[in-house]
Amino acid sequence: MGSPAKASVESFDDIAPTALFTAYWRQYGNDPHAGPIFETAAAIWQQCGAPLPDFRKDERYHGPTMEIRQKVGDLLLKKAVATQVLDLGAGLSPRGLSKLGIPYVELDIPVMTTLKEMVLQRLHRTGLVERRPNHILVPGSALDPDTFAQAVSHFDRAKPVTVFSEGFLHYLNNDQRAQVATNVVRVLTEFGGAWVTDLPHLPLGSDGAPVPRFQNLGTSRDVRGLAFADQDTALKFFAGQRLVTKPEDSIAYADPGILSGLVSLDRVDLTKAEVAKKQSTWAMHIFHLAGSTRA
Ligand SMILES: C[S@@+](CC[C@H](N)C(=O)[O-])C[C@H]1O[C@@H](n2cnc3c(N)ncnc32)[C@H](O)[C@@H]1O
Repeated sequence: MGSPAKASVESFDDIAPTALFTAYWRQYGNDPHAGPIFETAAAIWQQCGAPLPDFRKDERYHGPTMEIRQKVGDLLLKKAVATQVLDLGAGLSPRGLSKLGIPYVELDIPVMTTLKEMVLQRLHRTGLVERRPNHILVPGSALDPDTFAQAVSHFDRAKPVTVFSEGFLHYLNNDQRAQVATNVVRVLTEFGGAWVTDLPHLPLGSDGAPVPRFQNLGTSRDVRGLAFADQDTALKFFAGQRLVTKPEDSIAYADPGILSGLVSLDRVDLTKAEVAKKQSTWAMHIFHLAGSTRA
């Protein structure tokens, strides 16, 4: 591909610190790799002379949000019968480590895949993680068709691909999201499969007004300004990209089954009801190609 995609890789570097935020808050859940990944990444980040973002420890609900997102993502990947996964903007997520056995390809900008590779190598040396040959990090932009082609070259062409993204589309504008969607649609057309993702929209309070919810998490981008007005607007946008979901392919973050058994609640001193209220309009979805008869 030509220069526009190359230029876009450069311009997304400011989003990289947001992955440190989510890695920090993921430690409040129960993923065994979350602590070692965050500590190692933060140490490398500082050794490189970069200041650590302010994690705003008082924003306690990020802890449950990360734990909920991990749980919902795992359930939807299972429902989508994922046999090979392409994780867009995977950042420092430990998800690829737990998907033992299946090919798991992470696509992120080079600054992040370099950091992640260093983290995984250090944890491997200390015996904390196993490096599998089919857990692969691909550097590049999810907007770039060539990077996508490189990422999917690691997959078995006879099997469907499950594209996955969480906390990634929040940082893009609609034109950029459309570019990512075009790349995903091409993969789903070629392989079959589905896209499991969250949707960045502004939650509305009981008075109908947008609730302050998003933080920019260490990037200077105006994340609230980029968000869809509400979930319906987000779903219409996806439908315009030929990507559709069904109620049974969506899981609400405030679902009682999801909220039960969260270990982060006690750790951040929040109740189930408080978290349910914050998460009341949030969900993750499985999107399929409209009109597709493939898996
Ligand atoms: C908030 S973090 C989310 C990371 C991870 N999914 C998680 O939930 O912890 C956003 C991620 O998007 C990545 N990113 C930003 N622009 C990107 C692009 N154009 N292509 C691929 N990844 C990108 C960032 O480097 C960062 O890792």
